[in-house]
Amino acid sequence: MHFKITVLPGDGIGPEITTEAVKVLKAVGSRFNHDFSLEYGLLGGVAIDKTGAALPEDTLKLCRASDAVLLGAVGDPKWDNDPQARVRPEDGLLGLRKGLGLFANLRPIKVFPVLINGANLKPEVLKGVDFIFVRELTGGIYFGRPRKRWQTARGWRAIDTMSYSEPEIERIVRVGCELARGRGKKLVSVDKANVLESSRLWRQIAVEVAKSYPDVALEHMFVDACAMRLIQNPAYFDVVVTTNMFGDILTDEASMLAGSLGMLPSASLAGVPQEKAGTFGLYEPSHGSAPRRAGQNVANPLATILSIPMMLRYSFGLGEEAQAVEDAVSEVLSEGYRTYDIMSEGNEKVGTREMGDLVVGKVRS
Ligand code: IPM
Ligand code: MN
Repeated sequence: MHFKITVLPGDGIGPEITTEAVKVLKAVGSRFNHDFSLEYGLLGGVAIDKTGAALPEDTLKLCRASDAVLLGAVGDPKWDNDPQARVRPEDGLLGLRKGLGLFANLRPIKVFPVLINGANLKPEVLKGVDFIFVRELTGGIYFGRPRKRWQTARGWRAIDTMSYSEPEIERIVRVGCELARGRGKKLVSVDKANVLESSRLWRQIAVEVAKSYPDVALEHMFVDACAMRLIQNPAYFDVVVTTNMFGDILTDEASMLAGSLGMLPSASLAGVPQEKAGTFGLYEPSHGSAPRRAGQNVANPLATILSIPMMLRYSFGLGEEAQAVEDAVSEVLSEGYRTYDIMSEGNEKVGTREMGDLVVGKVRS
């Protein structure tokens, strides 16, 4: 089969990690006889430097004309410390998510058994951890209006708005229900309904949507309690659905269960998976651009490499191919190869490129 993929390497370690993921994708193509054609585009700081815009119009066009998008990471401290900066690399990513209608961000938290002993938490807490976050990605406080800063008689003031509409909540909860249906049938909806009006609406709609999924058990959890439960008993979870900002925070926390943020892939989808084969999506690691690690061949490429099986499954419907990549990563880890962020005693330390080569070798064989 033939698929068109737009690759957006972005900033920092982005180009290095996408290079490795592309190698793995090509290995899948040659083993299973698929033709993946790649086109490269600019996004983030590199796009600002070259065009003045974080999300150039050409990039959006390229993405819209493709079957899926592979993204590295965006962001550079060059822009972080300037509160007046007109344009930021992150705006490119947010604009892309909005422009492509990628409202559902899936972040699976799966603990590779061989990494359990090297993680920050006790092995008995991590045993059996296998769940998936469904983060709403194009609404909430990330996009709500008004959003501004202004000067008052008592100095500066700023406002962000957390707002959700019924259709926005409905579609994302449906993604949670569909995924739960295909897994352990337990859906936890995370909100702050004891304080926030938008959360009260969220909870009400969640209850309504779940009525069409009598086989799925819906539970509500406050975001603070969820943050605690993720550390106390992470094996409790099956599918978690939540708002844009809560999901941003909780998925960074949950990544520590998988050993490192460098192990966490993600898929951002424009539709409800399972309902329609071939959902358009953008695939990227959950971590950032790690500018201090850039260009040193040390970054862990596995989060990006593990985004490839998500692409193969959700956008291309290629389950067997996806499994081959996941098995390859598993085998490489079992053989003791580690990047610096997941190193434990007795392991063999490898760089970004070497890790990519090892996975490619397993996919080919
Ligand atoms: C993420 C990142 C982004 C977000 C940033 C880079 C805008 O932290 O994908 O989790 O906050 O969504
Ligand atoms: Mn984040």
